[in-house]
This record gives sequence, structure tokens and C-alpha cells, in this order.
Amino acid sequence: AEQPRLRAALLAWFDRQGRDLPWRQGPEGRRDPYRAWVAEVLLQQTQVARGLEYYHRFLTAFPSVQVLAAAPLDDVLKAWEGCGYYARARNLHRAAQQVTREGLPRTHAEWLALPGVGPYTAAALSSFTQNAPHAVNDGNVRRVLARLHAEPAPTPRWVQQQADALLDPARPGAWNEAVMDLGATVCTPKRPQCGVCPLSDWCGARASGQPGNYPAPKTR
Ligand code: ADE
Repeated sequence: AEQPRLRAALLAWFDRQGRDLPWRQGPEGRRDPYRAWVAEVLLQQTQVARGLEYYHRFLTAFPSVQVLAAAPLDDVLKAWEGCGYYARARNLHRAAQQVTREGLPRTHAEWLALPGVGPYTAAALSSFTQNAPHAVNDGNVRRVLARLHAEPAPTPRWVQQQADALLDPARPGAWNEAVMDLGATVCTPKRPQCGVCPLSDWCGARASGQPGNYPAPKTR
């Protein structure tokens, strides 16, 4: 019953305080698929600050999926130099050739069928470019949800169930990026800033007085 208010609070925060990142340009749910795709592949294993640098470099060299598909692999690897995990660049190049033959993906399943696109990236891209109701699930999402529900030991299955249940069906792409931004800037691993958190009224971890204890650190 609290879901609509909780969703509205996080989305209002995101509309005011969300990060202004170049791959977020364009109308909600209809973002340029090629740019969004390049960004998500970069962000799979690269921090946002460094991702920005490579995003601009890559799109200057390969401004469209057709240009990327037609480029020699060596040029693509060259543009990726220093970024690491070169399999990402090889897959992106191969996938660009597939897209020039078959067209851009139009569904979550079609995104998932591209080389280098796993469940996280398919959920991100189908929500950002097609308003598809797929919740992303990564370390930030896990931490935010574990705290919200005061769950010390969230399993991957639990996280996906909670993420699916909470996803705003009207604005799935904005919702996914709102959770990412909350985890990156407010609900941080150490010293979460509950005083400025739009979800603090609903947060079990905050109510416990020890928000940093969720999720519990792995013991070994
Ligand atoms: N990490 C992965 N995808 C992201 C996005 N779209 N915005 C910010 N950080 C991200």
C-alpha cells in the first residue's frame, strides 16, 4: 500500500538530483539505443568517471552502429585501449555487425541475444530505450533493497524478486537509474546519508539505527 508513495518519492528525488550523464539524453523510454548500449557496455566494468572519458572517445571514433560495424576490429580495440576487458570491445563490434543485418533489438529478449549483453544490460537497455518493465540487479540495487527491508543476507533470488516488485511500471527506465544513483550517491556502502535519503521514511535499516549493517558483511 505504501508502494505508490515510495515510488513517487524516489522518482521526485531522481528528477531533481539524478546525475546528468550524457547517455541519459533523449526522451524517457526512447533514448538513442546505440549510445545507451555503448554506455552500458562501458559501465559493466568501468566506473562512471572513467566511463565518461571512453564514452566520448568511442562515440567520436564510431558515431553510429553502421560506422562501428564497418570499422576494422583493430581500430575498435585501439579506441578501447586502457579501458580493459577487451572482450567487451570485440563483442560490441560483432554485435554491431549483427545489428546492421537484423536491425536494433526491440525487446528485452532481443537485447539478450546480442554478444556481450547479459541480464543486467538487457534489463537496463530495454527499460531505457523501450520502457520495458525489467528491473536491474547489481551491487547498488542489492544494498538499497537490503537496507529498505532490513534484510541482512539478501540472496540473488530475493534481490530480483524485490527489485521486480518495486519497479515503477510507469517509468521503469527512470526507476532503474534512480536506484543506481541513490546507491552511488546517498545509500553508499559506508556512511549512508540517511538525512537526505528520499526513502528514509520507509527504510528498515535506518529504523534499526545501524544502516551500515545491511547487508551484513560476508564473514569467512
Ligand atoms: N551503471 C550502469 N549503468 C548506468 C547508468 N545508466 N547510469 C549510471 N551508472 C550506471
